[in-house]
Amino acid sequence: MDLTPGTESDVILTLQRTYELKKDPRNKPLAQFELMPNYRFHRYVTGNSAIEAVKGIGNGRIACFTSAPGSAGTLAAGDQIKAVFPEAKIAALEPYECSTLANGGLGQHRIEGIGDKMCTLIHNVLTTDFVTLIKDDDCVRGLKLLQDGTDVLVSAGISPEVAESLKNLFGVSGICNILGAIKMARHLRLGPDDNVVTIATDGFDRYPSVLEDLGKRNLELENYVLARWLKDIFQAEDEKYIYDFRRGDRKEQLFKQKEKDWLPFGYKKEYLDEMRSMDFWDAEYDLCKKYDEKISQSR
Ligand SMILES: Cc1ncc(COP(=O)(O)O)c(C=O)c1O
Repeated sequence: MDLTPGTESDVILTLQRTYELKKDPRNKPLAQFELMPNYRFHRYVTGNSAIEAVKGIGNGRIACFTSAPGSAGTLAAGDQIKAVFPEAKIAALEPYECSTLANGGLGQHRIEGIGDKMCTLIHNVLTTDFVTLIKDDDCVRGLKLLQDGTDVLVSAGISPEVAESLKNLFGVSGICNILGAIKMARHLRLGPDDNVVTIATDGFDRYPSVLEDLGKRNLELENYVLARWLKDIFQAEDEKYIYDFRRGDRKEQLFKQKEKDWLPFGYKKEYLDEMRSMDFWDAEYDLCKKYDEKISQSR
């Protein structure tokens, strides 16, 4: 076990450590932030699963996909969603406390698995339409509400079966994804037939200690507090911190962030420049067919 210091947003330190370890040829880094199989997997499996999942729901299409990148692998599902539903908007979510994509912010935050102070190599910024910031404690409080606030949800009009079914499903980053989905649905003025897809990135089983910590930080966690959180977090009509990244200058900002993050690790500018064309990403996706054939042949 080789522990690097810091918090959730210091994954970049593990990357630097991995680069040291990689110098020994016996070590093989899986390198989720930079190796394209992560992109291919999520575009193929997660993307096509999302497309399958909305069949028969609402208008059967996807209007928006939200995902908070750690590696930005999951975000690649958006590329497939856009290929099938060109009108779909893709929103990358970041902690408000570590808004690296939005404006180069580099802070500490409480959302496990995301907001790692970089634009990852495998992040296709061409298809990122919006970058939306979510406050970290809203995610932790939101998790507390779904986990322990069933009565509060029922009092607010949610059916007991649905309220009960929301327990144990989510981790903190999953709540972030949901809050981003709600925020984007409002911002895009979506209607009841429009589908927003997001991903429940984790189950609750890894997070009881996060709620214990919340208990220590908040002396009152009675139902009236949870009821206020329901209003302030899930029902807030808040369109703050949604940045439109469809403009060329915004794309350029992300390309530059990627250069800043990856040239130091030995990647060439020419390789990063290839990523400025959708052909690069589509060619990656097309490799799935080739690998599938190889796998079938080897069976
Ligand atoms: C709990 C959790 N949430 C979100 C993510 C982000 O997913 P991705 O790396 O596909 O962007 C991760 C990634 O490891 C994670 O562990």
